[in-house]
Amino acid sequence: MLVSGILAVSENNVIGSENDLPWRLSNDLKWFKKNTLNKPMIMGRKTFQSLPGLLPNRTHIVLTRDPSFSAENVVIAHTVSEALTLAESDATAKSQDEIMIIGGGEIYKLFGDQIGRFYITRVHTSVDGDTYFEPLDDDHWSQSFSAKNEASAKDQFNHTFCIYERLSEN
Ligand SMILES: NC(=O)c1ccc[n+]([C@@H]2O[C@H](COP(=O)([O-])OP(=O)(O)OC[C@H]3O[C@@H](n4cnc5c(N)ncnc54)[C@H](OP(=O)(O)O)[C@@H]3O)[C@@H](O)[C@H]2O)c1
Repeated sequence: MLVSGILAVSENNVIGSENDLPWRLSNDLKWFKKNTLNKPMIMGRKTFQSLPGLLPNRTHIVLTRDPSFSAENVVIAHTVSEALTLAESDATAKSQDEIMIIGGGEIYKLFGDQIGRFYITRVHTSVDGDTYFEPLDDDHWSQSFSAKNEASAKDQFNHTFCIYERLSEN
């Protein structure tokens, strides 16, 4: 089962500000939907609470240390391995072969070793923020896809969709 991370990041490595995204990119929301639809999504409790609501046709697995945390129509996990086991069962039941790690900053770090693919939207601007994504190490990742997109009425900044695959170690 492939475990993939998906995120958008600015040129100064910012992914979030005040528990929100620091930009408005309608095109990126479509890219996110296309790449997560029908797949289980693992997220941190803060990212879950930043969503406008449940995203249709995707199981939401929310990681929290709080034993009393609950939310409607959401699967709760308290450890990385529990989240992955729940996600794998969900993916298998839906004939999917990919688990999506959708953030935020703490969760990308937590699943760093398990992630074999990253869908990264490069947002071509520098912004203020409080949540960061550490750049991938070129020695361990190879870019397999890149598509440039211009800013528009619905997309605040130029941005590039990229996919990276982890290089096998030998
Ligand atoms: N640009 C992007 O693509 C993107 C994507 C996603 C999110 N974001 C942004 O990122 C920011 C949120 O990221 P964040 O780093 O602050 O928070 P986060 O990673 O979304 O969630 C952190 C929470 O996850 C839980 N957690 C962390 N480690 C855990 C562990 N080992 N075991 C169990 N639970 C654990 C804890 O929840 P409890 O406190 O409940 O215990 C912790 O407070 C927001 O600004 C959001 O908009 C950006």
